Amino acid sequence: MELIIAANWKMHKNAAETAAFCHAIRRNEADFTGVEVLICPPFTALAAAAAALEGSTVKLGAQNMHFEHQGAFTGEVAAPMLLEYGVEYVIVGHSERRHLMGEDDRQVGQKVKAALESGLKPILCVGETEKEREQSLTEKVLEKQLSGALEGLDPGTTGSLVVAYEPVWAIGTGRAASTDDAESAALLIRQFFQNKLGINASSGLRIQYGGSVKADNIGSFVALPSVCGALVGGASLEADAFRALIQAARKAEKS
Ligand code: PGA
Repeated sequence: MELIIAANWKMHKNAAETAAFCHAIRRNEADFTGVEVLICPPFTALAAAAAALEGSTVKLGAQNMHFEHQGAFTGEVAAPMLLEYGVEYVIVGHSERRHLMGEDDRQVGQKVKAALESGLKPILCVGETEKEREQSLTEKVLEKQLSGALEGLDPGTTGSLVVAYEPVWAIGTGRAASTDDAESAALLIRQFFQNKLGINASSGLRIQYGGSVKADNIGSFVALPSVCGALVGGASLEADAFRALIQAARKAEKS
């Protein structure tokens, strides 16, 4: 399976900074062969990113979407609006949206379904908090999040879905999960898919690890049998650092 490395910029970069980053990163895109690279800027920078990435292999993702196509939802953005800018992927259920904006499993499930129906590829984020981990609830939490997210999905429709295992305590802390923990979470996720949607849906599923991924640790994650990429926050904000991270991933995957 092709590695997928996604830059989640969160609420960083205006349009000019986005364009500068995209021009810088695409200068080396020939070195990205074998890795699907995507940038998820804020909504307000999507147009600048789309223009700067025209003709590039680097793809565009959004950080969130609403599950309705249009309507009275002040402040929200719908899938067709994202598609207008050439957006291919959308992050759904990031822990910052779950914990800071109160998104629940049901809403996450509605977004996953709406994204798939619209032709966007969802990157579904799941992961336990530090407290849940200390209480040995990781498996339960992942199963609950996955169950909500996959509710009502037809097995034949999930081919483009990506799942990112992002333990909340590892996000932005500099304290990445151990490779053992990342691998067991990824195995659990794949098993869940198999039980719920069948072998076809589970065998093609791409699972990323996210949480304090950097150039010097990505190699150990992509070398894991069940992990095939990363969702990267802080280390994706600077073009040189992000390029180094992609190179490190390629090297580790090949070795
Ligand atoms: P981080 O963020 O790489 O800065 O830990 C990852 C994420 O939130 O997706």
